[in-house]
Amino acid sequence: MGSTLAFTLATNGVCSEIVLKDIRENFVKAMALDISQASNASKSHTVVKAALTSKDLENSNIVVVTAGIARKPGMSRNDLLSTNAKIMKSVMLEIKENCPDAIIIVVSNPLDAMVYSALKFSNFSNTQVVGMAGILDSARMSHYILEKLGYGAGQIESSVMGGHGDDMVPLPNHSTVAGVCIENLLNETQIDEIVQKTKNGGLEIVKLLETGSAYYAPAYATSLMVEAILNNQKRIYPCAVMLNGEYGYENIVSGVPVMLGSKGVEKIIQLNLTQNQKLAFDKSVSSVRELTNIIDKEFF
Ligand code: LAC
Repeated sequence: MGSTLAFTLATNGVCSEIVLKDIRENFVKAMALDISQASNASKSHTVVKAALTSKDLENSNIVVVTAGIARKPGMSRNDLLSTNAKIMKSVMLEIKENCPDAIIIVVSNPLDAMVYSALKFSNFSNTQVVGMAGILDSARMSHYILEKLGYGAGQIESSVMGGHGDDMVPLPNHSTVAGVCIENLLNETQIDEIVQKTKNGGLEIVKLLETGSAYYAPAYATSLMVEAILNNQKRIYPCAVMLNGEYGYENIVSGVPVMLGSKGVEKIIQLNLTQNQKLAFDKSVSSVRELTNIIDKEFF
């Protein structure tokens, strides 16, 4: 996913320099060469290099953390918790030492618990660390709406809140096709099917691939966040952030609409949820809390 993101950013000329880091030295050198050559083919100004030591992270404005093992068929995102938390600890300590002012975008799974871990291991501020999931989950919902409707490609705006897990909360009443709420276009059964498929969107790909999880859509979603932060676009995207009283929660990470700009998470937006949506959001937060309790016990 990291290399697909680098390819997307480089060939679109989103940033001036990309440094790739991986524990597999030859692999990361190969990726950097290949992506740099793609960047040259596209006449983009983006320079792409492999980082050989953590010093190469110095002066980074943004660090995207994709490090960790990915799901295999039969595994839930939660099965990755302990292994990926250990990896997150070493990555965050390297970041803290070399680029303490960078904005951190976490993509590793289980996503919300990894954003929480990244914050705790680094002591960075809540505005500095943000997780990528909501844009991906919303894009998946748009895909299933398109599949069901048979029209509307490029005009669908979907909204998904909550954790990036089985309890995510798709919001049909905030999802539209060219401004028309999908509740005007589809019946309840059809919408329920879309909601269910959205929740299983990642799993569907894991099952088909057998060797890993999705990367094109996660990478593209992350590139939008990088662009919003780097260019101070103040865009509203659903992202995983630490809640500080918003939605009635503290010291827990969940997916909510936020404003992304050069300072990172510049604003958290509070939607009016229906009673059922509020209950679903509470359930999703509880699932994340189970994981963060394990993290707290194991590391703090
Ligand atoms: C997915 C991974 C990125 O949902 O969590 O595909």
